[in-house]
Amino acid sequence: MIALKLLQLSLFITTVHSAFFSNSISGSARVVVPKFENSFGITSHMNEKKQLRETELFFNMDKLSHKLSQLHQSASPESDEKPYRIIIAGAPASGKGTQCELIKNNYGVVHLSTGDMLRAAVADETEVGKIAQEYMNSGKLVPDDVIIGVVAERLNQPDCLEKGWLLDGFPRTRAQADALASTGVSADCFLFLDVPDELLVERVVGRRTDPETGKIYHMKFSPPDSEEVNARLIQRTDDTEEKVKVRLQQFHDNVDSVKGCYGDIMVELDGNMAVTSVADKVKDALEKCRAAV
Ligand code: AP5
Repeated sequence: MIALKLLQLSLFITTVHSAFFSNSISGSARVVVPKFENSFGITSHMNEKKQLRETELFFNMDKLSHKLSQLHQSASPESDEKPYRIIIAGAPASGKGTQCELIKNNYGVVHLSTGDMLRAAVADETEVGKIAQEYMNSGKLVPDDVIIGVVAERLNQPDCLEKGWLLDGFPRTRAQADALASTGVSADCFLFLDVPDELLVERVVGRRTDPETGKIYHMKFSPPDSEEVNARLIQRTDDTEEKVKVRLQQFHDNVDSVKGCYGDIMVELDGNMAVTSVADKVKDALEKCRAAV
């Protein structure tokens, strides 16, 4: 029964996902997607006249919250083996992605980076990607209604329910935190990496990513050890001194209101230590959060 409900939800979500992510909906084409609502209280409607910018996903939070709470309660095992549900936050380049690689390997959780999801959507030229691109290129936050739909969908897929999840870069505004809470999804731990602004610019500008493995490097602090990897590294388009100033401003405008939502499960960590030292602190924090659940 639970599996059937999850399947129903997944199928519906896949439908919504297809409407939003499909490359087949071209920006210049006439777009006709019917308005529909299902038993989970989600109504989707694409305004054909105003096209992409007016694409809207409406959540009836009461209905959605009730259904998702039921599914989460039913799907979570009662034993100590409950999967981890972790949020990691911090300023741009504070080391979230670097720590996520280690947490994912240690705890087997599903890593959900909203930045990576959005970059993939931009690369695939999906509808969400087309909307997100100009915001990301200027260092601004993507609108809440765009990103909330993406995350709500992903968190309720079977792999996240089974293995647990690690949310990296979400929620980033009070509206996102409220939307997450409204769906009945809660985290066990909110990790916050503290790094002074003046160190972040150097981290941003020196960051490189391996497109084949997704591994994050820094040309000064953690360069690759082979010439082959070095040759294929890429730099993010928003990793410039100019754009990181905008990203930092967006971060400071929102951080206190987000932290305020997680006071009871928040662990603040000094992110200005060696990667392995930060990782040790992360491990301690997660064990403590686990014990408190
Ligand atoms: P996103 O990709 O999430 O970027 P970000 O939050 O700015 O974080 P970063 O990925 O830049 O840094 P990080 O903390 O992961 O650091 P990393 O480990 O790589 O988001 C990009 C954009 O997408 C946003 O600007 C926005 O437009 C949009 N977006 C995403 N989520 C959104 C949301 N929820 N709402 C609205 N819009 C959203 O490390 C950085 C560098 O430092 C690396 O080179 C690394 O090697 C090095 N490093 C890491 N740890 C250490 C250490 N301890 N010591 C020395 N160097 C270190």
